[in-house]
Amino acid sequence: MNRRTFMNYSAALAGGAAFSRFAHALPLASSGAGMPPVDVAGARFPDGFLWGTATASYQVEGAWKEDGKSLSIWDTFAHTQGKVKGGDTGDVACDSYHRYKEDVAIMKQLHMKSARFSVAWTRVQPNGFGPVNQKGIDYYSRYVDELLAAGIRPMCTVFHWDLPQALEDQGGWPKRDLYKRFADYASIVTKALGDRVSTWAIFNEPWVFTYLGYGSGIHAPGRRNFDDFLRAAHTVNLAQGEAFRAMKAIAPKAQIGSAFSMAPVAPATQSEADHAAAERFHAINNVYFLYTAKHGKYPDAFVGEAPYKVMGFEEGDGKIMQAPLDWVGINYYNRRIVADAGQGGNPYTHYTEWMPAEGPVTYNGWEVWPRGIYDIVSRISKEYDRPIIEITENGCAYSDAPLNENPAKVPDERRLAFYRDHLAELARAIKDGADVRGYHAWSLLDNYEWAEGYSQRFGLVYVDFRDQRRTIKDSGHWYGRVASTSRLDV
Ligand code: NOJ
Repeated sequence: MNRRTFMNYSAALAGGAAFSRFAHALPLASSGAGMPPVDVAGARFPDGFLWGTATASYQVEGAWKEDGKSLSIWDTFAHTQGKVKGGDTGDVACDSYHRYKEDVAIMKQLHMKSARFSVAWTRVQPNGFGPVNQKGIDYYSRYVDELLAAGIRPMCTVFHWDLPQALEDQGGWPKRDLYKRFADYASIVTKALGDRVSTWAIFNEPWVFTYLGYGSGIHAPGRRNFDDFLRAAHTVNLAQGEAFRAMKAIAPKAQIGSAFSMAPVAPATQSEADHAAAERFHAINNVYFLYTAKHGKYPDAFVGEAPYKVMGFEEGDGKIMQAPLDWVGINYYNRRIVADAGQGGNPYTHYTEWMPAEGPVTYNGWEVWPRGIYDIVSRISKEYDRPIIEITENGCAYSDAPLNENPAKVPDERRLAFYRDHLAELARAIKDGADVRGYHAWSLLDNYEWAEGYSQRFGLVYVDFRDQRRTIKDSGHWYGRVASTSRLDV
């Protein structure tokens, strides 16, 4: 999401008044205005800390109709006029389906020890159920072998948003039966790769793909109905528990978690109502799929009782959702301020949210707030009894490109500073007790940024989408030095 979309979304919820109304109440940074200082030189990471990068199938692979792959909701959405900026599609993306060896060689050159990637359901089970497409399996098998040969741990995300269109045609995530289909698909992937992949994320950002896909319609499949979002989210909660058990039955030693989008939140004022609203935000945005896995029930995300009927909650569902995830993945990008909205805001949750602007902003308008990674990691560590945590994503969009006079150089100081400061704050969270085992920069490559198309570049490596040439940015070279020394002052 970019700032424009985010603002529209927040402003719509807030009746447009939120920004000025609460500006005075933003929490003050410890050092006064702007970002609090960070300790770069003192940052330390545990032995064996896994330095990595992350990508996702639709965003990098391309080959949208090759080797038996069917269409996903993102193929359909991207090919629908007006849905994606510039009409961009993932038809070719970074062409990683054909160039994965080059990508792995770059990771190796940068001393990466972990590669987070996702499997496209449409490649391995084109109808979303039934027969397996061996050619699709073979691609991921080759990719995993290439990573292992380079000494890089494959971390496989089972689902990063590219639902088979065939399943959307039958009702998509709001249709509860999908949870069983998903567990079958997860079993297929585990059978195929489980002898070599030991770390798995079942879902990527379940709140984002259910809310933006079914609630706000900004992402595929573009439906706009809050009740559909609640139903989709419930199916995903069931699917997470069911897939966990199915995968463990095949690979008992597999370490299985999910990657959750999380934003640390502060109340707009010290009023009780705003505090309660901020807690509702935390419940539905950050832990709606984690609390359920741990406790087998929904967190207090709603004003009053949870709308169980709307969600399609049935007796026994608590047990299905419950799963002792082996680790917690956190995707951190920015923070939120939240205010109570009375009867306004979203149905059932009734709060308004916005992103503060104390820190500098990235190319897509997201506030840079390194302290946020400390805050959210520390909070989750406390609330969930010090679980194993991996940062499954963290990164920023800036548009720096190769210099005309020296095309091998991409000076991107702001991205370098972004990573340096966030990592310093992560080291502080570790020092204060959080058990963080790895960190994945989003992303290895500039890639397809969903509804923003190719307009936002999150890569450590610049991709020229005209000829697919890859050029490591200054931030990438720096991150490579960090990975080989586990120090930030390099
Ligand atoms: C989170 C998503 O998982 C990823 O697909 C996306 O590109 C990044 N955020 C940046 O928006």
